[in-house]
Amino acid sequence: MGNRTTIIAGNWKLNKTASETRSTILALRNRLVGLSTRAEVVVFPPFVSLETAIDAARGTGVKVGAQNVFWEQSGAYTGEVSTAMLEALGLNFVLLGHSERRAHFGETDATVARRLEAVLHGTLTPIVCVGEVLEERESGTTGEVLARQVEGALRDVAPDHIGRVVMAYEPVWAIGTGKTASPLIANDAHTLIRSSIAAMFGRSAADETAILYGGSVKPENTATLMSESEVDGVLVGGASLDAGSFAEIVRAAG
Ligand code: 13P
Repeated sequence: MGNRTTIIAGNWKLNKTASETRSTILALRNRLVGLSTRAEVVVFPPFVSLETAIDAARGTGVKVGAQNVFWEQSGAYTGEVSTAMLEALGLNFVLLGHSERRAHFGETDATVARRLEAVLHGTLTPIVCVGEVLEERESGTTGEVLARQVEGALRDVAPDHIGRVVMAYEPVWAIGTGKTASPLIANDAHTLIRSSIAAMFGRSAADETAILYGGSVKPENTATLMSESEVDGVLVGGASLDAGSFAEIVRAAG
């Protein structure tokens, strides 16, 4: 761990109604009472529950983010939401380029770059997700893939905006599989991501960028992952749906 912000993020994906969102956040609040943590704790419910989430999280220290956002501000784009709409709700964070969006919804490095540019024109903190699939890891191309994804996503970021970008390394083979990356694999991948950022924006910008690890994070493996020098937080899927296990992860992160 360096001096970078620690973030413990819960990506709820396609789970929980608005009322389940409220009860989970209230339960999380109860579990976090009295727990001193240096981390920013953020949950990412589906769009329709964001307003409820903001309301339930008020005064708790828990922050709320969206799972995606479009790059245009208004117009004939059925089904989309804009950065200004999310900001108006009082949101703090947005996920970009999650591998599930890449796999199922046609997301590419180029569309991630467009979304990121729109986000950086506003006030949200983007968490840009990258990660290799199993075949890429097994064929030894992880480094190339991560470099391509980082360069592709960050290519239009102005130098004075890089300090607002958070990265997440999510190896696709570790997502929802129970196969967490070993702390060493995670640390090596984070180092590669940091090198790509350094090549684009300089070493000190890279050293200040928080990089989260995601992929089968659980209360039992959080502390060892977080003890790695390049791991600045975790992006949790399944284990964030239960307030008890997510609170345990926050506790384990220190
Ligand atoms: P799991 O924690 O369920 O593996 O999901 C990780 C993830 O995709 C978080 O964005």
